[in-house]
Amino acid sequence: MKKTTNEIRKSFLNFFKKKGHVVIPSSSLIPKNDSTLLFTNAGMNQFKEYFLDQKKIFHPRIVTAQNCLRTGGKHNDLDNVGYTKRHHTFFEMLGNFSFNDYFKEEAIKYAWELLTSKKWFNINPYKLWISVYEYDEETYKIWRNIIQVPAKNIIKIGDKKNSQYDSENFWQMGETGPCGPCTEIFYKYHSKKLDDHEDFFENKNENFIELWNIVFIEFNRISKTKILSLKNKSIDTGMGLERISAVLQNVHSNYKIDIFQNLIKKIYKFANVRNVNNISLKIIADHIRSCAFLIAENIIPSNEHRGYVLRRIIRRAIRHGNKIGIKNHFFYKLVPDLIEVMGDSAEILKGQENKIKEVIKKEEIQFCQTLEKGLKILNIEINKSENKKMSGETAFYLYDTLGFPIELTSDICREKNIDIDFKGYNIAKEKQKNKSIQKNKFYKNYNENINIHDTCKFEGYKKYKIKSLIKHIFIKNSSVQIIQKGQKGTIFLEKTSFYPESGGQIGDIGEIYYKKSRFIVKQTKKFGDTIGHFGEIISGVMIINKFVYAKIDQIYRKNVQLNHSATHLLHSALREILGKNVIQKGSLVSNTHLRFDFSFSDNINLLKIQKIENTVNTQIRKNTIIKIKNLTLEEAKKKNAIALFDHKYKSLVRVVFVKDFSIELCGGTHVKRTGDIGLFKIISQSNISSGIKRIEAVTGQKAIEYLHIQDKKIKDISAILKSNNSNIKEKIEKIIKKVTYLEIKISELQQKENLHQIKKLIKNVKYINKVKILINIFQNYDQKSLRSIIEQLKKELKIAIIIFINKNRDNFTIIIGITKNLTHYVTAAEIMDIFIQKTGGKGGGKSTIAEGGSINIEKLPNFLIDIQSWIDKKLKK
Ligand code: ALA
Repeated sequence: MKKTTNEIRKSFLNFFKKKGHVVIPSSSLIPKNDSTLLFTNAGMNQFKEYFLDQKKIFHPRIVTAQNCLRTGGKHNDLDNVGYTKRHHTFFEMLGNFSFNDYFKEEAIKYAWELLTSKKWFNINPYKLWISVYEYDEETYKIWRNIIQVPAKNIIKIGDKKNSQYDSENFWQMGETGPCGPCTEIFYKYHSKKLDDHEDFFENKNENFIELWNIVFIEFNRISKTKILSLKNKSIDTGMGLERISAVLQNVHSNYKIDIFQNLIKKIYKFANVRNVNNISLKIIADHIRSCAFLIAENIIPSNEHRGYVLRRIIRRAIRHGNKIGIKNHFFYKLVPDLIEVMGDSAEILKGQENKIKEVIKKEEIQFCQTLEKGLKILNIEINKSENKKMSGETAFYLYDTLGFPIELTSDICREKNIDIDFKGYNIAKEKQKNKSIQKNKFYKNYNENINIHDTCKFEGYKKYKIKSLIKHIFIKNSSVQIIQKGQKGTIFLEKTSFYPESGGQIGDIGEIYYKKSRFIVKQTKKFGDTIGHFGEIISGVMIINKFVYAKIDQIYRKNVQLNHSATHLLHSALREILGKNVIQKGSLVSNTHLRFDFSFSDNINLLKIQKIENTVNTQIRKNTIIKIKNLTLEEAKKKNAIALFDHKYKSLVRVVFVKDFSIELCGGTHVKRTGDIGLFKIISQSNISSGIKRIEAVTGQKAIEYLHIQDKKIKDISAILKSNNSNIKEKIEKIIKKVTYLEIKISELQQKENLHQIKKLIKNVKYINKVKILINIFQNYDQKSLRSIIEQLKKELKIAIIIFINKNRDNFTIIIGITKNLTHYVTAAEIMDIFIQKTGGKGGGKSTIAEGGSINIEKLPNFLIDIQSWIDKKLKK
C-alpha cells in the first residue's frame, strides 16, 4: 500500500522523535522579528537566533514540518511553478535540526536510514545520488567510506567562478544570516544509457530530483563580502514533503501525488479542457495552497509588500482559470477541498474557511472586472509587436489601470515568446511615483542626515518641563559649539521632555531656554537612541555643555494625547464592529486630528460609521482611567494586547490599558481618563488602496468646531434656499429636477440655433480644388455647440476643412475639424502645430479634430491668412 502524503509527514516526524528529537509545530509563514525575510522560506528560519548563538534553545534536537513560501527574495520559484515537476509557491519542508549536538556523520546516517531502511521509506539505495561541497573532504569520506555510496554516485560541486562560498552546495538563508556547506541527496527516476554525469548536470527531463538537503551550519554571513565562523556547529536539514511523496507514491511529478491529484480533479470539473496534465490546472492547484495559507496568516491582497505577493498569486490563478475556459468565479470554491486534502497541516485553515473564501472571492470579483479588457489589450499589443517586444508603457498601463501585476503580463507574454521592455516599465512607474511623492511632500524636514551616536532619556511621560544639559548642536549636518539668534539648527540634550515623532504620534513642539536665551522647537525626531530638537533661536545663544530648560507646548501635547487615546479606542471599536480581521496598517496622531489606516475589504456604510462613533463615545463617557504598565512581551501576549505585525519589540513592552476594552502595545503619550477626549467625530472614510481603508477623525474642541462648521453650512444653505432645516433635502431635489428640465430645453433650443448657424455657414464655404474650406469667427459662443456644429458640418460638406475661432474678451480658442477622407493630405493636428507656432498658443488633437487657444489676439489675422495659403499648397501637392 502506498503511503499518503499525510502518512509520510507523520513517519518523518516519528522517525526523528525516536532519535531523541522534539516535534514542534510549523512556525508562521510570516517570519517573526526578522526583517530580512518576506516569507518563511525554510524550516530553519524560526531557529535563526539559536543557530547564531544569540539565544539558547530548550532542546538540542528538534524536528518540524514547516510551511514555506518561495515567491520572493533569494529563493523564488514562482516563475517555475506549473512548468516543472517539482516547484511550488507553497510547500512543506521536513527538517531535523541539531543545535551544537550531533554533526555531519550522524546527520548523514539518519537521513540514509530513513530513506533506505525497509522499516521506513525503503528506497533502493542505488537510486540515490549525492552531491557534496568540493572542499568538504570530511563529508565525502562519510558518504564513501561509512555509508559506502559508490564513487560514481557522488558528485563534487565547487564554487562558482571567482567567488568563494557561492555554490549550489553552500547553503545560505538569505543575503545575511546562518550558512554553511551542504550535501544533497538526489533521487534518480530512470536508468538511462546516457552518461549519468551529463544527465545529472543537464537534468533536462528532471530525471534527478533533489530530495534532501543537509546543511552544516558553521558560519554567519554578515554582508556580501564578510562571513564569520560560529562558535557552535549545527545541523539544518530540509526535505520537500511533496517530492518525497512523489518518490514514495511512485510518480514522476509532485503534481501527481495524492494532494495535487485531488485538487486537480476538482479544478478539472470547472474547466473546459481535456488534458488533466494541462499546465494551468497545476498552477491553480499550486496557487490555492499559498493563497489560503497566506490569508490564514491575516495577509490580504493589496498593492504593497506581502499583500501584493498574494494579489499576484491570486490574479495569476484567475487568469489561468480564464485560459482554460472557466467562466465564473471559481478559485474561492477550492478552499474546502484544500482543507480536506492537506491532512494534519490544515489545522491553521480550519475555522478560517469562510474568511479565506471571502477574501479570495472579493479579489476574484474585483479582478474579473478588468481581466477581459486587459487580455484584449494585451492580445492586440502582442499581435502588433513585430520585434517581439511589449512596450513598457503598455505594461505599466495594464498594471496601473487594469490591475495586471507586471509578473502576470510577463507570464502571458512568455507564453508567446514576447519580451517586456522592463526598463520602460520602470521609467513609467518611477514617473508616477515621483508625481505622488511631490503631492505628499507637504512639509519638509530639515537636517535629516545628521550623523550622531548618543543616548537621550525621554522623561516627558510625566514632566512637561525638565532641566537638562546640551550635549550637541548641529547646524544643517555640521556639529557646532554654539548657535546664535536667527540661526536654525538641531539641539541634542542629555534628557528631554519632548516626545520624538514615532508610532504615528507627531513630535512635540515647545522651547529650550535659559535666562534670556530662547530656542523655539518646531519638530522633535529620533536619531537612533537620541532625540533631535529642530528649531530656531530667537534670542541669545545656545552653547554646548550648558544647562537649559526643555519645556514642551502643553496645549499642543494635550491635543495630541486626545487623538492618541482616541486612536486606541477607535482601533478596538473597529475590531468590535467590523471584526477581528481589521489590522492596523498605518496611523497618524497629530494635534489637529487622527488618521487610521487598516485592512478591511468591505464597504463601511453610514450606519456602521455611526456605530463606531457611538462605541468610542460610550467609552469616553465612561471616563475610564487609562493605565500604563510595563510587561514582558509574553505577559502582554497573554493579555491579548494588540501589537503591530512586522514590528520588532523589546522583551519589556509598554502596554496601554483602557480596562478590557482596549489593550495595546504603545510607546506614545495618552490622556489620564477617557473622558478627557470629550467628543470623537469621524470626518472622513476612504479607500487608500484595495483592501485598505482610511478613517480620519477629530476629538475634543476640534470635534465641536467641526460640528459648528457643519451646522453653519446647513444654515447657510437653508438661507440660500429660503427654507428651514427640515425640508432642505426636498427643496434641493426639486431644484435639481428643475435644472435638468431646463438643461433639456436649452439643449433643444441650442440645436435649433445650430441648424440655423449651419445653414448660414454653408454659404461662406470656399473651395480649394474640390475641398471645401470654411473659416469662421464667433463671439463668445458656447464651445460645446461649436464642436457639435463642426461634426454636423463634416457630415454635410463631406470633403472639408473647418476652422472655427471663438473670440472671448481677452483671448480666443480654436477648433479645427477635418473630414476623414482628407487626413492623408492634411491633419487637424498639423494645422494645430502651425497655430501654436504662429500665435504662441497651446493646443493639441488628433487627425480629424484638434482644439487649442491663445491670448495673442493681434496674431490672429496673420495666422488666418497664412493658414489658408498653407492649406492651398498642401492640397495642390
Ligand atoms: N535550509 C536548507 C534548505 O532550505 C535545508 O535547503
